[in-house]
Amino acid sequence: MKNISPKKKSASTKTSTKRGRIIRLAIVGAGGMANAHAEAFRKISGVVLAAVCDVDAQRAQEFAAKHGGTAAVFTDLGKLLREADVDAVSNVTPDKLHAPLSLQVIAAGKHILCEKPLATNHADATRMARAAQKAGVINMVNLSYRNAPALQKAAQLVQAGKLGEIVHVEASYRQSWLSSKVWGDWKTTPAWLWRLSTKHGSHGVLGDVGVHILDFASFPVGPVRSIQSRLKTFTALKGKRLGEYPLDANDSAIMQVEFANGALGVIHTTRWATGHANSLYLQIHGTKGALRIDLDRSMDELEVCLGADIHKAAWKTLKAPKTPNIYQRFITAIRSNTPGKPDFARGAEVQKLLDACIKSNHLGKAVKI
Ligand SMILES: NC(=O)c1ccc[n+]([C@@H]2O[C@H](COP(=O)([O-])OP(=O)(O)OC[C@H]3O[C@@H](n4cnc5c(N)ncnc54)[C@H](O)[C@@H]3O)[C@@H](O)[C@H]2O)c1
Repeated sequence: MKNISPKKKSASTKTSTKRGRIIRLAIVGAGGMANAHAEAFRKISGVVLAAVCDVDAQRAQEFAAKHGGTAAVFTDLGKLLREADVDAVSNVTPDKLHAPLSLQVIAAGKHILCEKPLATNHADATRMARAAQKAGVINMVNLSYRNAPALQKAAQLVQAGKLGEIVHVEASYRQSWLSSKVWGDWKTTPAWLWRLSTKHGSHGVLGDVGVHILDFASFPVGPVRSIQSRLKTFTALKGKRLGEYPLDANDSAIMQVEFANGALGVIHTTRWATGHANSLYLQIHGTKGALRIDLDRSMDELEVCLGADIHKAAWKTLKAPKTPNIYQRFITAIRSNTPGKPDFARGAEVQKLLDACIKSNHLGKAVKI
């Protein structure tokens, strides 16, 4: 396929909307999640999808036609960075490409929003965070459940001391696409198959959604001091292969953690949680109160047990104020030249926990962070 790319800077680079200057965006990786990026960015005034890149030329063309209209289409990121007029890049490729492609974007001096997990190991994630900081580009990692207003409110309550000293934490992320067809047939879907294969750079359910729940729990509670993990690939997959995909990545993970503030926690995730499509749950107990979030129930409501209610074990529903999503925060960060969160440094912190889980599973004991 011929790459079509604008050679001259578009006039729109110089213009601005009422809300701020025009941001010309490229999306790299035009698979399932890229649609969520394109739709979210389309809702932000002054953001233009200027270029799309995918190694699958037809997919890139179709994606550009669906979301970009006039977006230039590429099959190679290097060529896009040399030829297209873009300010920022969303990296929505499979996990193993997050580090190499994001480093290319940073070297070209573009702002970067990278999908989670930031990399496939802590060393690469740290390299990315350092490179982005040195280049002075806005860098954010799509730990997308931070978008839930309920989580932002939970973090405020904990940090304001409303729960007292945090003692006990329970968090889970449950999916069931291996035991159900809730998201289609995984056996015939490449986007699910690469997630089951270490050869394709996946750390299984741990790297795919364990990364979310580790962030979801430690964002309000604070850093993790030590972690012990047990990872398992269930026998329905173990030793099996489908075409080019050896099905060897973990599909269930349990973790017990000690937070730096002394609290203990249990965190778990699985792709075999029959009856759950995509369920995140968090419960935090302190000496003066408790809170719980169930995203199946609500993104912007949490339940709290505070004050005199703790003596009756009575819970009330609390509505959290609306908060901007990560796509809005990324654009605001670029326009205001102010770092946006969660950044690559945070992505690297969570990556350290993932590495520790893999090590702990191997050693059969807890690993200090
Ligand atoms: N934050 C979230 O909530 C969330 C949700 C879903 C997926 N994700 C992440 O998004 C990423 C993509 O997931 P997906 O489900 O869209 O996968 P996918 O397999 O549907 O899409 C990946 C796309 O990247 C393309 N690609 C592969 N190599 C490339 C390269 N070198 N250059 C350009 N394009 C390339 C593929 O052809 C494919 O179209 C993953 O890292 C995943 O973890 C995040």
